[in-house]
Amino acid sequence: MIVVVGAGVASLTAVNRLVKAGADVTLVTAGRFGHDAISAGNTALAQGGIAAALGADDTPALHAADTIRAGAGLVDPLIAQFVATEGAQRMRDLLEAGFAADRNADGTLAFGLEAAHSTSRVVHAGEDSTGAALSRFLTAQVQHHIDAGAVQLVEQASLQHIHTAANHVCGLTVRLPGGSTRLGAEAMILATGGFAGLYSNTSSSAAITGHGVLAAARAGAVLADMEFVQFHPTVIPGTGQLISEAVRGAGAVLRDPTGKRFMPAAHPDAELAPRDVVSRASAQVMRHVGTSSVWLDATVIEQRHGPGTLARRFPVLTQALTVLGIDWSCEQVPVAPAAHYCMGGVATDTAGRTSVAGLYAAGEVASTGFHGANRLASNSLLEGLVFGTRAAGAACADTASARWQPDAGFSKLVATATEVAGATTPRIDSPQQLRKLQQVVDTHLGITRTEADLNAALRQLETIRHPMGDLVRVMATAALRRTESRGGHWRADFPAQDPTRACRTAWRLTTAPSE
Ligand code: SIN
Repeated sequence: MIVVVGAGVASLTAVNRLVKAGADVTLVTAGRFGHDAISAGNTALAQGGIAAALGADDTPALHAADTIRAGAGLVDPLIAQFVATEGAQRMRDLLEAGFAADRNADGTLAFGLEAAHSTSRVVHAGEDSTGAALSRFLTAQVQHHIDAGAVQLVEQASLQHIHTAANHVCGLTVRLPGGSTRLGAEAMILATGGFAGLYSNTSSSAAITGHGVLAAARAGAVLADMEFVQFHPTVIPGTGQLISEAVRGAGAVLRDPTGKRFMPAAHPDAELAPRDVVSRASAQVMRHVGTSSVWLDATVIEQRHGPGTLARRFPVLTQALTVLGIDWSCEQVPVAPAAHYCMGGVATDTAGRTSVAGLYAAGEVASTGFHGANRLASNSLLEGLVFGTRAAGAACADTASARWQPDAGFSKLVATATEVAGATTPRIDSPQQLRKLQQVVDTHLGITRTEADLNAALRQLETIRHPMGDLVRVMATAALRRTESRGGHWRADFPAQDPTRACRTAWRLTTAPSE
């Protein structure tokens, strides 16, 4: 049996592919499948869309080049090339299967523009609710397989433990409303999302705090690039409400409290500079003038394209802002950077294989080398489509052949893994402990870090007993060791990029805590 854990884009894509291959599949999801936000996770929250080189003036090579440029020297070019190529094909497959992407009046796909893309290539659906539309579409396909008896469903099940025997996956323990249960598995595809929910200031679902990453690490899987967390520049403070980058792509600008645009002085691409650059520039303005936000001015879109444009192009955002009492057709929106996406996670090879035989990872839980130090906008759903497919293919092939042969490049990365000792005291999974942990993460692992910050985080972790403390220890250690600034990792005490450090980092959690 192959168990898929999670119900976002990567897992649902994997389930579809496994069913096609005739595999015996069990889908384990934290929520009620198809019925609640916990089940769909961050996929359903994605606004902008899916980057895919489908336009007449676009190519996968151009998309790969943009991905590599945004990734600040750490994107694996081979991976960028195949994700851009296969991603375009996965997108065509979805469209052929009936996914209703937004189209122009002449029937051609309507492409959005987002930061650091050299051309408009972001496919969207429901205008600004692409993730929700994709989630509904894939969920309906998988529900059909469940109804036909091709997939067993285990709902409201949170992953507690991945069991291995001789470094090969053999099962998992999940917590159900009525207690814990153990399931056997020949292989497992982990697609449980990242760990941005460890920040209290986040656009991520608060429920996604890295439990999948931690379970994999405790099972012996090597983690990679844990110092790189992406902060999205336009989140309404105190709400977690993201304002899609597509809004800046459509012409909105950022202003300081005096009304002056600050991005043109910070980067030649101004508001459409890579996300890490825009977030840092905003944070700098906020620090300098002592405000808790800068201002997103979308009124310029209405002025340029006529009244009603914002409501037509961004209906879900318009509604969300109305609920918050903001009429963005005539007033500016307070925005600040918030943790959004984790480039780090469970290290995988090009087929989603981890360093534990039989364990695969896809989507934000994984660190594949595709995003480098800073993910290009709208590349995450794309990666889920490509790696969900690849991981399913590898799981079937490896299980059938009883072979486990990760790529040589991945094995080399794994061989460099530095050990980080997990806590040895008993852990307490309580809301109070989580809040304490979030305070450490917010304060010391934010958009800029220093050696003093990171050492303080490591000291404070000694007193925090939440299980995710181990994951934060890996994040802080990785951030401490990277004595340079690059992409989503910015060291105020080492503000320059060091060309000799253009390599990924790998981490192994050593001591399993007693529980
Ligand atoms: C956005 O719409 O700005 C978020 C999209 C992404 O994170 O790729």
